[in-house]
Amino acid sequence: MLRITRKSHDLPLIERGPLVQVWINGSQVNAYLGETVAAVLIANGYRTFRLTDKKQKPRGIYCGMGICFDCTVEIDGVPDIRSCITKIRDGMVIKTGGTANG
Ligand code: FES
Repeated sequence: MLRITRKSHDLPLIERGPLVQVWINGSQVNAYLGETVAAVLIANGYRTFRLTDKKQKPRGIYCGMGICFDCTVEIDGVPDIRSCITKIRDGMVIKTGGTANG
């Protein structure tokens, strides 16, 4: 079995893409090309990405691989985009159904 041990410094460094700016619910934040929208949302304190239609229950990352549609957000005016499989673009405008830290 392969496990990550304290020798993890032997692993290659992860290089970030270029710094870009995106908008989340009207606030400008930093992001790095190559990150997913979901990663940027989580890095900025968002846990609720949308609310369910019927009962307004909070939803966020669940499967993390494009299967469940729990992570959908509005991107550049297009609703219901899966944030976990969508890469950041410079100037992207993201709208969630939740607030930072909620
Ligand atoms: S978390 Fe399941 S589709 Fe994105």
